[in-house]
Amino acid sequence: MDLAAFVRALPKAELHLHIEGSLEPEMMFALAHRNGVRLPWASVAETRAAYAFTDLQSFLDLYYAGAAVLIHAQDYYDLAFAYFTRAHADGVVHAELFFDPQTHTGRGISIETVLAGLERAGAEAMSRYGISSRLIMCFLRHLSEEEGFATLAQMLPHIGRIHGVGLDSSEKGHPPAKFARLFERCRELRLHVVAHAGEEGPPAYIVEALDLLKAERIDHGVRAADDPALMRRLAHEQVALTVCPLSNVKLCVFDRIEHHNLKQLLDAGLKVTINSDDPAYFGGYIAENYLQSARALGLNAAELKQIARNSLEASFVDAATRAPWLARLDAMSST
Ligand code: ADE
Ligand code: ZN
Repeated sequence: MDLAAFVRALPKAELHLHIEGSLEPEMMFALAHRNGVRLPWASVAETRAAYAFTDLQSFLDLYYAGAAVLIHAQDYYDLAFAYFTRAHADGVVHAELFFDPQTHTGRGISIETVLAGLERAGAEAMSRYGISSRLIMCFLRHLSEEEGFATLAQMLPHIGRIHGVGLDSSEKGHPPAKFARLFERCRELRLHVVAHAGEEGPPAYIVEALDLLKAERIDHGVRAADDPALMRRLAHEQVALTVCPLSNVKLCVFDRIEHHNLKQLLDAGLKVTINSDDPAYFGGYIAENYLQSARALGLNAAELKQIARNSLEASFVDAATRAPWLARLDAMSST
C-alpha cells in the first residue's frame, strides 16, 4: 500500500475543523449567487489568489467575509455535507465540528437556522457514510466575555444539541483568562471544554487554558515547545493537542512544513493529533495534512497509527463507540 492509501485507510477522528473554514470558493460563489450576497472578490480565481496570509489575523479578516454568504439552513447543510463527503474519503470515522455562532448571529442569522442545517448534514453523514459527529460551539475571543455570556444565553434552549465549547479567533492579546467565568458556567452545564492556545500566543496561554478554563484538549498548542516545564506537564497529563500542520504553514507559524515541530512534540511523548483547521483556505483536508507531515517530517507507519489512535482516544465518544475503530486500527500492519 502506498503512503497516501495507508493514510486514507487509517480510521481517524477529526477534532479541529471549523465548519466555516471548509467553505470552498466555488461554494462561496454559488451561495453568494443564490442568496444575492456581494463578495469582495470578482471570481473564484481571484478569491484563491487572495489566500496569501501573513498571520492569523490576515486570514480571519477574509474568513469572516466569506462566511457572510451563509444565510439559510440549506446553506449550512450544503457546507457541512460537502465536508463530510471529503472527510469520509479521507478515512474519518468521527468528526467534532467547530462552529462560531457569533459569526452568524452578528449578521442576524438565528442559532436555530445554523443548528438545523448542521444537524441535518450530521444525520445524513451517519446514514450515508457511517460517520459520527458532534458540534462544539466556539466563542470568538476578540469579543468580550459579556458577549460570550449573551451567546450562551441564546444557546441555552438548544444546549442539548451541542457537545462542548471552544475558544477561537484572534489569539494575541485575548488570553484564556478573559473568559474564565464564562467557561466555568459552561462546565456547570456539563459541556466539554477545548480552547485554541499556543497557536500564535505564548505558552502561558496554554497554561491558562488548562488551569482557568479546564480545557480537556488544546487546539494547536505548538508553542508549548518554548516551555520545557509545560512540555513535561502535557506529556505527563496526556492532554491532546489538535495540531494542524498545513494551517500553521499558511499562517506563518512555521516557515515551511519541514520545520514544523509536530515530530518533536510526538517524540517528547505528547498526545499529538493531526487535523485540518480550515481546509478550504489552507490547501488540504485531513489526509493531506497527515501525508504532507509524514513526507516532510519522516513519520513512519507506526507513528501515523499512533497519531490516529490519539485522535480516537481524545474524542468525546464513549469507550464502546470507540472500540471498533481502535480494533480496525490495531489490525492494520505497520510495515
Ligand atoms: N478560526 C478559524 N480558524 C482559526 C484558527 N486557526 N485560529 C483561531 N481561530 C480560528
Ligand atoms: Zn482552529
